[in-house]
Formats: sequence, structure tokens, C-alpha cells
Amino acid sequence: MTSQPRVVSHHDEVRAMLSDPDLTVVPAPRPPFALTVAWLRGAVSRFADGPVHAARRAAAVEVLAGLDTRVLRAEAFRLASSHPREAELVPVQVLALAFGVRAEDVRRAARAVAAIAPVYLPSPASPLPSEQDIVAADESLVRLSRLLGDPEPERLAVLAGLLAQACDSTAGLIRNALAADAAPCPVEDLLAETLRHDPPVRVLRRTAARPEAAGGGAVPGAEPGVVVLDVAAANRDPEVFDDPDRFRPGRAQEHLTFGAGLRPCPGQTVALALAAGVVEAVRG
Ligand code: HEM
Repeated sequence: MTSQPRVVSHHDEVRAMLSDPDLTVVPAPRPPFALTVAWLRGAVSRFADGPVHAARRAAAVEVLAGLDTRVLRAEAFRLASSHPREAELVPVQVLALAFGVRAEDVRRAARAVAAIAPVYLPSPASPLPSEQDIVAADESLVRLSRLLGDPEPERLAVLAGLLAQACDSTAGLIRNALAADAAPCPVEDLLAETLRHDPPVRVLRRTAARPEAAGGGAVPGAEPGVVVLDVAAANRDPEVFDDPDRFRPGRAQEHLTFGAGLRPCPGQTVALALAAGVVEAVRG
């Protein structure tokens, strides 16, 4: 019998586990500098823990703090109005512009990030990236670095990491919000309920420093020490959300799609500003 990780789907348990210091992210190896996505994964906060995670996260947060969300939202609205068919990639275009890519190159930069993102953070729902995907992603990182002005490796890791983190999740939010069957409502409520009901990030994984922290031993056949936090299920936990399967903008309860606890998404307000600008432009 192949052992499966333990899956946690109750809202309060997922939230508690995201605050448990004994549960860490699955770490990426840290190869020496090279313009490859394997290097990028080993150089960002997302796949690191402890003091290394804290220092890298602080560097990313500092860059995000320098962004003006009102300007980002207006720019997202402007770009999505002129290129509605590329709406899902507009957030990355706007961020690339804010990170110093020339205006005439932002669409090229966004295409590079779109090739990097699924190798940087493969979706658990998709097959693992092929050798061809990895080569294309590495070539795209070379292009992206050039468009960013070939910064020092540490700075490149922060900027390319932010762009890769932003890419698929914000595109998914926009796609799901535009597809939602909702009565007219404020865009903020539409986005919040989309994030709860149809989250673009559906699961998070953790490994346990001590296997018992994952509770895996308690489940027959469970892979020891690995736990899958089922955010999509937790967002529909009937003990927390009234009528959980109903799409109902304006709910007061909090979804877990931006994570929680020790390492919640630091790009939350930026993601919401960008998505709001795009959705308003496309909805008209
Ligand atoms: C709808 C869009 C987004 C969603 C749903 C989302 C969700 C998440 C989640 C759940 C995590 C935590 C992962 C974990 O605990 O294992 C995370 C981490 C992160 N996100 Fe987002 N994110 C979004 C957009 C963005 C954007 C736009 C940025 C930056 C511009 C960003 C930057 C990051 C970074 C840097 C991390 C790693 C934080 C750390 O290492 O402590 N995200 N995101």
C-alpha cells in the first residue's frame, strides 16, 4: 500500500497548523547561483524556514511596502481596458513595470513569468513539469533577468520570486471572479467570496519536524510527517460558514486562501488591488 499524506480540512485545524512552528514548508534545495528556476526556488522565502525564511521574507515585504496599491489598481484597470484578452496576465505586467521593466517590455516580461511560474510552484492538480517545461522556464528566467536590468542575484531572487508568486494565483482569482455567477455587488465582496468559494490556491503542504506534529501516526497508511492542508475544503467548513456551498458575496467570516499564522501571503493587498482593477475593467 502506498502511504498517503494526512489531509486536514477543518477550518480551525488548518488555521492552527499554519501557526505551528513544528510544521515547516517542504524545503527546496539551495544550489549555487545560476539563472535557473531550481536556483530561484532555493533562493526565495517561500521554500525556506527559520531565520533564512525570516530574512528573505523581510526583503520581499520591503519591496511590497514600496508599492502604492492605488497606483497599481489604476494601472491594472488601464492595461486590462486596452488588452482585455490578456486580463489574467495584467497583474504581472503591472508589477513588472513597478519593478523597473520598461513599458514596452512588460508583456514580454509577463510571458516569461508565465513560463517560470508552473515550474517555480507546480500546481498539485497538474502533472509534474516536463524536462521541456524546465528548459523553457530557465530560458525565461534569463530573459526576465535581462528585462529587470540583470540585478544582483539576491535582488533578482526577491523580484522574480514576487512575480512568480503573483502570477498563477492572481490569474486564477481573476478567472474565477469573472466566471462567478453573482448578482451585481462591490468588487471587493466579489473577490473575497471568489477566494473562499473557488480558491486559486487549493492546498498547502507542510512537513513535521516531529512526525507527531502532523498527526500522521494517527491515520493508518498516512505518510509520516507530511500533512496536506485542504484550504478549499476548510473554506467550506459548515461549522464556520453558513450555507457554505452557496456563492454569497458579503460574508463576514474569514477564508484561508491567503494562508495564515506564521507565513501568510504578504502580497494580499497588492493581489486584491490588481485583481480589482482588472475585474472592473473587464466587467465594464
Ligand atoms: C490571489 C492571489 C494570491 C493568493 C491566493 C496567494 C496565496 C498565498 C499563500 C496561501 C501563501 C502562503 C503559502 C504557505 O503558507 O505555504 C502565499 C505566500 C506568498 N505570496 Fe501570495 N498569493 C497571492 C498573490 C500574491 C502576490 C500578488 C504576491 C506578490 C506581489 C504574493 C507574494 C507571496 C510571497 C512572497 C509569499 C511567500 C511568503 C513567505 O515565504 O513567507 N502573493 N501566497
